[in-house]
Amino acid sequence: MSDDAGTVGTPGPDDATAIPVGDAYDVVVGHDVLDRVPGLLRAGVLRVLVVSSPAVETYASGVAGALAAHGLQVHRAEVPDAETAKSADVLVRLWSQLGQAGFTRSDAVVCVGGGTVTDLGGFVAASWLRGVDVVHVPTTLLAMVDAAVGGKTGINTPEGKNLVGSFHEPRGVVCDLTTLATLPRAHLAAGLAEVVKGGFIADPRILELVEASPEAALDVHGAVLRELVERKIRVKADVVAADLRESSLREILNYGHTFGHAVEQVESYRWRHGDAVSVGMVFAAELACAAGLLDRSVVERHRRVLTSVGLPTSYADGRWPDLLTAMSRDKKSRGATLRFVALTGVGSPTRLEGPREEWLRAAYDAVSAGRGATRP
Ligand SMILES: NC(=O)c1ccc[n+]([C@@H]2O[C@H](COP(=O)([O-])OP(=O)(O)OC[C@H]3O[C@@H](n4cnc5c(N)ncnc54)[C@H](O)[C@@H]3O)[C@@H](O)[C@H]2O)c1
Repeated sequence: MSDDAGTVGTPGPDDATAIPVGDAYDVVVGHDVLDRVPGLLRAGVLRVLVVSSPAVETYASGVAGALAAHGLQVHRAEVPDAETAKSADVLVRLWSQLGQAGFTRSDAVVCVGGGTVTDLGGFVAASWLRGVDVVHVPTTLLAMVDAAVGGKTGINTPEGKNLVGSFHEPRGVVCDLTTLATLPRAHLAAGLAEVVKGGFIADPRILELVEASPEAALDVHGAVLRELVERKIRVKADVVAADLRESSLREILNYGHTFGHAVEQVESYRWRHGDAVSVGMVFAAELACAAGLLDRSVVERHRRVLTSVGLPTSYADGRWPDLLTAMSRDKKSRGATLRFVALTGVGSPTRLEGPREEWLRAAYDAVSAGRGATRP
């Protein structure tokens, strides 16, 4: 937790887990824990802007009510659904709202929603008066285990996704697993791709839990999903605490993302991010296998685990030139050299730079061969 004097409320008597991100802040995980939000704000805060999307109105109202009950002046901003929220127009509208309501340095923003809302609201908080406090209340699995943790914020521009943004650590994160009950199953599975990624790069127990019962892994009321969420948050928290600005260690979180981002671009962002990362992990595993780094049994384990929770593991054939162009443009490649996170085993990531063309082709052939895959 932060070291400044006091908070607005006190922790509730629930069974929530608090996962520290270094000594910067905690990620609280549990059921029915929305009333934990006021306790994460610093003492002295007067105004709070609650940013949310239409799909999570009930949860945003609950959070707003809890804040008002602590005597705070609550302002509400409903932003458009999904990626349309992450635009300069919406950002300017929120800045105006903060200005008209007289938000000062000691006031705060609370984001309730998926990764699009936490990215947008986080950037509003990062940029208003050069930075005010933000608390994230992620309501998708992807946002709980990924977007809301780590301090990356941003919006899209007509030229591309996430091109404008900044690092701005939240003051705290509250993951209320109860909110996942209304999340469509396809979005739940997409979030699980990021959880499984945590299993392959750092925590094999995640893979064992999914393998033991894929159904339990998708049950938002059960103990298994909760353990998976907590484990994946710990993986991310440990990495970002050690490496707050994206550089070498943090790079391992991009496992599956080089090919995954290319799929997203080629599909004009009609694929869910988690679905693209799922195929991207299989590609990365095939690539590592072709390069002689990874055993085939681990490649097949990727396919089994991801398929068991309904995630795609193959992609249409005939798209290699487009994918290669997209990968070369990826902001994480340096110059003309393609860079991948690869595994030498489960929990053992390494970097693969400038892989041979024949390895890349072999990996693509393996994810596309005879499958002609489309989004599930
Ligand atoms: N900052 C980071 O480190 C980081 C990491 C990963 C992804 N991201 C960003 O996150 C975004 C994707 O996040 P996402 O997958 O959460 O998408 P999203 O925010 O678009 O949410 C997906 C859909 O689910 C709806 N929804 C959200 N919570 C719900 C609930 N509890 N019940 C019913 N519906 C609900 C949303 O309204 C939306 O339609 C992308 O913009 C991506 O760039 C950021």
